Amino acid sequence: MQYETLIVEKIGKVGKITINRPEKLNAMNQTVRDELDHAFAEFAQDSDVSVVVVTGAGEKAFIAGADINEFKDKNAAQMYEDFRPDKVFHELARFQKPVIAMINGYALGGGCEFAMACDIRIASENAKLGQPEIKLGIIPGWGGTQRLPRLIGEGKAMWMILSGEMIDAKTALEWGLVDFVVKPEELEDFTMNMANKIAEMSPITLKIAKEAVRAASTLGLKEGLELESRLFALTFSTEDKEEGVAAFLEKRKPEFRGR
Ligand code: COA
Repeated sequence: MQYETLIVEKIGKVGKITINRPEKLNAMNQTVRDELDHAFAEFAQDSDVSVVVVTGAGEKAFIAGADINEFKDKNAAQMYEDFRPDKVFHELARFQKPVIAMINGYALGGGCEFAMACDIRIASENAKLGQPEIKLGIIPGWGGTQRLPRLIGEGKAMWMILSGEMIDAKTALEWGLVDFVVKPEELEDFTMNMANKIAEMSPITLKIAKEAVRAASTLGLKEGLELESRLFALTFSTEDKEEGVAAFLEKRKPEFRGR
């Protein structure tokens, strides 16, 4: 498909999506959201792609939020319909392969929320993150009030959401909002190296591992441990487990096939 607002590439086993509205700091309008759903749906079907990296075009922004122009004259009924949890980042939310957010600048509002919905967040030293919705007289609507406290704790999340203040990458790292911070000129290589290393693993086992870790934020410990033991046993049904164990014992690199 020809994308209007995204650059979608395959680099080895890594799918890369770049939101490409740099003149609007990659603000997510409806077209961006629809195209993101489409790109994720395509990568979900593509067995050559094991890991996905998402970033923003230009030097300034990852994603500066939802496109505020689309909020004008919208009423509650429309927003309640459009912002249902099953509709927001619909394909990302059900995407089984690992997704890395490569945060190259502002990650604000929906941009911060999008990054939080990814699996690993890598930020450039000059990134700034925040939930500034309160300054518009609204609150986060794409998961910010729920994912932010889970990542950084209630008090800090409360401060960010009530004040609308941004934090820098160093603070985001200390607080656990991002997982790695690197120099701007190293961001691309660092991220792609990480993605490529992960993509060397069995694609089926990556999905099982992601499902298990994601369950940690929704299940109690007892249920989580039970799920883990079932998923752990499931990995013993794959050909890739036989290959991984055999390769270790034969002192060679495994050739995983995703079976
Ligand atoms: N929605 C729509 N357009 C946006 C946008 C958004 N979320 N964020 C930035 N833009 C647009 C600006 O309107 C401007 O467009 P213009 O050149 O046609 O006027 C362009 O992107 C560049 O932004 P600008 O504000 O001039 O850059 P800056 O460097 O002075 O400020 C920010 C950068 C990120 C601080 C500022 O753009 C901002 O506060 N954006 C809104 C962030 C936000 O509230 N996000 C949550 C939305 S729910």
